[in-house]
Amino acid sequence: MDMRRRSFLAAGAAGAAGAAGAAALLGEAGTAEAATQAATEVPARRPAGFLNENVPLRDLAAKIGLRIGSAIIPQDIDTPTWNAIAASQFDVYTPGNEMKWQVVEPEQGVFDWTGADNLVSFADASRALVRGHTLCWHNQLPNWLLANVAAGDYTKTQLLDLLQQHIFTEVGRFRGRIWQWDVCNEFLTDSNPSQVDPSNWWIVNAGPECIPLAFTWAHEADRNALLFYNDYNIGGEDGSNAKHNAAFALVQGLLEDGIPIHGVGNQGHLDTQYGWSPQLLRQDLEHFASLGLKSAITEADVRTFVNNATAQVPTDNLALFAHPFEFSEMLKAVLAVPEAISFTMWGFTDSDSWVPGFFTGEGYATVYDVNQQPKQAYYSLQSELAIAAHGAPHRVKTYTPPITRPIS
Ligand code: G3I
Repeated sequence: MDMRRRSFLAAGAAGAAGAAGAAALLGEAGTAEAATQAATEVPARRPAGFLNENVPLRDLAAKIGLRIGSAIIPQDIDTPTWNAIAASQFDVYTPGNEMKWQVVEPEQGVFDWTGADNLVSFADASRALVRGHTLCWHNQLPNWLLANVAAGDYTKTQLLDLLQQHIFTEVGRFRGRIWQWDVCNEFLTDSNPSQVDPSNWWIVNAGPECIPLAFTWAHEADRNALLFYNDYNIGGEDGSNAKHNAAFALVQGLLEDGIPIHGVGNQGHLDTQYGWSPQLLRQDLEHFASLGLKSAITEADVRTFVNNATAQVPTDNLALFAHPFEFSEMLKAVLAVPEAISFTMWGFTDSDSWVPGFFTGEGYATVYDVNQQPKQAYYSLQSELAIAAHGAPHRVKTYTPPITRPIS
């Protein structure tokens, strides 16, 4: 009798059911041998809340301490049906745009925290955490900053001072309310080998020291927030693992220099037209863990070619299989690595996905369709999480003939 069986029998009700089952089996199989065997067996047991359509992803994931998240845009909060999905299914939210510098300081010294504050309040109301996104990125910078830098108005030191001020202001405002911050975002080249991009706007204008400084300032502003480096194609999505190796070298160097960094965010933007190795993703997450770092999937989605941007029906029937498969495999890589602490999708419905606006002819990237109905990918994530949380239910008892004689 193994430990699993013993603990089930110890549950009393299960033990009584087992004895009743033995009596029934004696009549059925008609041998004392079968009765003895049956007495030690357990009845089928499907854990309560194991798997039905009403069990939210966040509840299943919570059983193993994993957070399930989504990027949230204002429309997700303002539209009641979308709000209901976001509030019930996810327990970590990332603002899609509302904490980016362009949004929070549209004019120098003039702040607009409306979207960021709403997101944090929504998270509080939904008992969800927040991933702050993002403090130092070459994209979505305010026009005044871009214009002043282009005009040569700042020395490197003055630009670094502005970055420090930005980080102190934003991280300070939300001190104690942010679980993970994406401090630096997308600094690596897509080449093989990959490296910190010498033509990156921040590297050109402020110098490579902006990366360690950004982490140091974020830590000064909120000692408890987990500080992440975040990028795409660092989980083997480029086939070569070149970008993973560059990310590894970057964060290893930061650690060696005593810089406060706690995790690596793997964005997880996949496209069914490209090959991708789930095994490589798991190994890459383990590789980051070998440095003592946490990891997270931060922007998962799986895009494919569709009929049009409104209906977003895949044009290749095989995409209907590739789409849930790739979501499932990303999640399974996370489940296999205890240091991977959250799995966040970049939007939860095809209606609010960034994909159709950025990739001509592509869409269908999220787990809910354009009518906010769950797709197969949703159910795949749900069953992976259910099995992770509870284990698979024990098989139902059947009579099994003894295998003792060779077949003549
Ligand atoms: O807010 C303006 C609106 O006033 C204007 O009328 C409209 C016209 O196009 O544009 C609106 O701004 C758009 C903004 O999203 C808000 O919707 C920008 O054009 C658009 O470029 C911007 O796109 C965002 C993109 O980052 C910018 O690179 C996406 O929403 C956002 O989902 C996306 O998120 C990034 C992550 O931060 C980092 N990783 C990649 C990921 C996907 O690109």
